[in-house]
Amino acid sequence: MSAGWTVLQFTPPEAFVPFAEVGRLEPPLRWHTFLRFREFIYQVSGIYIADNRRHFLKVRLLRRLEVLGLSSFEEYHAYVTDVTPAAARERQELLNAIVVTDTHFFRSPEHFAALARHILPELARKREQLRLWSAGCATGEEAYSLAMVVHRHLLPAYPGIAVNIVGTDISSEAIAQARQGRYLLPSLHGMTEEYRHYVQEHFGEYAVVPEIRDLVDFFVHNLVDEESLRSVAPVDVLFCRNVLLYFTPEVRKRVVPGLVEVLQPGGYLFVGEVETLTGLTGALQLVHFPRALVYQKPDT
Ligand SMILES: C[S@@+](CC[C@H](N)C(=O)[O-])C[C@H]1O[C@@H](n2cnc3c(N)ncnc32)[C@H](O)[C@@H]1O
Repeated sequence: MSAGWTVLQFTPPEAFVPFAEVGRLEPPLRWHTFLRFREFIYQVSGIYIADNRRHFLKVRLLRRLEVLGLSSFEEYHAYVTDVTPAAARERQELLNAIVVTDTHFFRSPEHFAALARHILPELARKREQLRLWSAGCATGEEAYSLAMVVHRHLLPAYPGIAVNIVGTDISSEAIAQARQGRYLLPSLHGMTEEYRHYVQEHFGEYAVVPEIRDLVDFFVHNLVDEESLRSVAPVDVLFCRNVLLYFTPEVRKRVVPGLVEVLQPGGYLFVGEVETLTGLTGALQLVHFPRALVYQKPDT
């Protein structure tokens, strides 16, 4: 590793603590305090921490207690739910600590194949400007994968087209990593040779090349904040994959209509392979591509 290059991905602290040990770690996370944190996190982010994830929450929040020099979870709860500017900053740190940002380049490669072969050419024939949004992009691999597909397949065929790609996430830490555009090898395991020249190896890390980085803008954005969702400019392609599964059905029912609203008529919405919008919206139709199912907003 050369000077100035930091290790970007970390093994979560709970990976080092045997599950049975977590309950014995001091201070205790009492059941009623766990419930109060769960409710608070749910209100702020839509993320629901199941009963059996109490140890996960404890290990993730212990780091915050250490940083702030607090000796109990009750004190931390009082600190983070306060109305001070410091509490607002700490709410972001709490969210950074609890989100699950697992991702990699070209996750579900059939989605990107459908985009390259069918969806982008279809949209480019109809529009002079395209906007793509990776919502819940974690550390940025999904948004950069979109940019690589655009650069490799769309721009050579439609050199005059204007393309804008945005990646957003509730985690400011993940967005800071995304902006750096530097990754370790495991992030690349879904990337075929076709795209390998878009990253350059540098002492064991892989940097996204400038022409791809320049295509993407990253922002912190909370999908559960209805006002922020309404302020998003209309998009032609929306990736919101492996995000809705962290929400309760009630939160999905609020977020999905907002996503539909943001989608241009004729635009496409991708959700994760294990996710479905059944029962959440009647405004989209399911389109079948080879080994990929994608939702489309009917063209009016
Ligand atoms: C498992 S990652 C999915 C990353 C990528 N979309 C993929 O499929 O590989 C889930 C991401 O959703 C983000 N997330 C969770 N709740 C969110 C919210 N309310 N608003 C925006 N992003 C959220 C998390 O921070 C995390 O980075």
